[in-house]
Amino acid sequence: MRMRRGAVMKFRKRIGIAILLVADIVFILVLFFGGQKQERAYTPTSSDVQTQKKTMAEVKKIALTFDDGPNETYTLPLLEGLRERDVKATFFLLGQEVTENPEIAKQIAADGHMIGNHTFYHEDLCEMEGTEAVMQVSRTNEVIYEATGEYPQLIRPPFGRAPQDLIYEPPMVEVLWTIDSRDWELSDVGSIMQNVLSEAEENAIILMHDSSQSSVQAALAIVDSLQKEGYTFVTLDEILFD
Ligand code: NI
Repeated sequence: MRMRRGAVMKFRKRIGIAILLVADIVFILVLFFGGQKQERAYTPTSSDVQTQKKTMAEVKKIALTFDDGPNETYTLPLLEGLRERDVKATFFLLGQEVTENPEIAKQIAADGHMIGNHTFYHEDLCEMEGTEAVMQVSRTNEVIYEATGEYPQLIRPPFGRAPQDLIYEPPMVEVLWTIDSRDWELSDVGSIMQNVLSEAEENAIILMHDSSQSSVQAALAIVDSLQKEGYTFVTLDEILFD
């Protein structure tokens, strides 16, 4: 009896040890494969990388540019609208206007927009001596620097033309446009919008002016419309140098 009880106890002990052992093995297996599974989930597969690349390529960039400011009436409401929509644009400023509205020029820069040079008086650079043209440009660079703390790198000559042999000092990058909104001659918001939306494409450079109520309204409506189509509004450097 004693012996048998002892044997039963031994048997139970063995069973107990065996169960514990199996439990341990199961636990280790779960840890091992579970851990491996988790690790696999954090490692991007080639299809993940392809998806990511596709997303990057699918970003459709487009640039809004505004000439002739800063305007004491229309630039600030435009800036507010762009801020609400998280849109960055490029402003080609006139030296004369910067001198009159330095705080607005400063605000344009503070909002993260890019600033370019549009000469001092908006005169045709082709109709003046080369030295005079260079002076108008460099004088504008100086007043922009005084207002914003940064020298512009881009220039858009008035009327989109400059003498071919004109050498900017310091060198600057000339930028024109690919879509003319014709907002300077139209007062109808719908017509301005139509001019832009009908030609909108990836990497387009849209010419507008922050000089009238209709321009500002059209610009913000164009943003709303093109954002819905998947466009991202960027500053010109992202179109020109990326
Ligand atoms: Ni202009």
